[in-house]
Amino acid sequence: MVILGIETSCDETAAAIVQYKSGRFKILSNIISSQVDIHAKTGGIVPEVAAREHIKNMLPIIDQAFKKASLDYKKIDTIAVTTGPGLITSLLIGVETAKVLSYVWKKPTIPINHLEAHIYSNWLRADSAELRARSLGPKAQSPKPRAPQFPLLALVVSGGHTELVLMKKHLDYKVIGQTRDDAAGEAFDKVAKLLRLGYPGGPIISKLAEKGNPEAIDLPRPMIKEKNFDFSFAGLKTAVLYEIRSGKYNLNDKKTIANFCASFQQAVVDVLVEKTIRAAKEYKAKSVLLSGGVAANHLLRKTLKEKVKKELPNSYFLTPNSSLCTDNAAMIAAAGYFHALKHESTPWQKIKADPNWELK
Ligand code: KG4
Ligand code: ZN
Repeated sequence: MVILGIETSCDETAAAIVQYKSGRFKILSNIISSQVDIHAKTGGIVPEVAAREHIKNMLPIIDQAFKKASLDYKKIDTIAVTTGPGLITSLLIGVETAKVLSYVWKKPTIPINHLEAHIYSNWLRADSAELRARSLGPKAQSPKPRAPQFPLLALVVSGGHTELVLMKKHLDYKVIGQTRDDAAGEAFDKVAKLLRLGYPGGPIISKLAEKGNPEAIDLPRPMIKEKNFDFSFAGLKTAVLYEIRSGKYNLNDKKTIANFCASFQQAVVDVLVEKTIRAAKEYKAKSVLLSGGVAANHLLRKTLKEKVKKELPNSYFLTPNSSLCTDNAAMIAAAGYFHALKHESTPWQKIKADPNWELK
């Protein structure tokens, strides 16, 4: 089966062609046009600007995806498109494009929830042509990746969401915990803004944190001891703000900034890891999955991997290659494959963008 994935929920215009053959996914193309440089100037996303960029980029990106995959549109079996959650102005561009293509090409189209796609990026791990090309040479075969096993626990951490999702089988989601205020990625972005480091904050903070001391600044671990599996990151951001305002620090000093980054990053990782491990134990998860933009964070990947190995001997940890953690359309196609198996397409006339679509 060959699937065209389309993603425009936020500030990345993306299209990918993914094939499922002989029990594995192969990414034939995965094209992403990021608007980061444009939004960096305003320190965050301006929805109208994002929409205009999507309009400009959408068709050329789809075109590139077909060219890179050396495929004609007739060869695709289905289209998968993100219809929510996300910014309505951004979602509409991908959704309307998919509807037109569905009508003109006479291909079934599947609406995909952006968060389920982040979870399904775990099925793409270590399986992409990109990875093979980079680490093993173009002709080498990558080893068959270990597939996630049910029941699984997925931690999805992105700019808009922080969710712990239990899955007992494919396409079956139970959100057992989520953030009560800011998402983890949002907290990274806001703290970077407080420290005047630029946008998006996650990659900048994690880079600077490498040279900092994670114990230098005493920051809270919100809700870490509470029995539920919810999170709260707004208070942590405010704690950073109070430290900055205390007058104790010289923010022109590089070491001080690195210490802020390392201490903040450690606090986020501590909370995410502790709650995920506790939930995995309680629900007897056979695999623990990490995905979403914040999953590109090296400390989070390393810490969760080690903890799962140490504390959950009967389960294993999976996370996609970092490039598949941030928004892309290959993950949309991967989720589309599992819906297509169940013949779950929607007539193009009925496909609608839903900015608040909750995973259930
Ligand atoms: O999944 P994603 O690309 O878009 C959404 O669905 O929101 O996630 C973007 C978020 C941003 O908040 C960004 O700061 C964060 O992921 N992020 C990171 C890292 N790379 C991206 N956060 C922490 N460490 C990173 N290395
Ligand atoms: Zn995302």
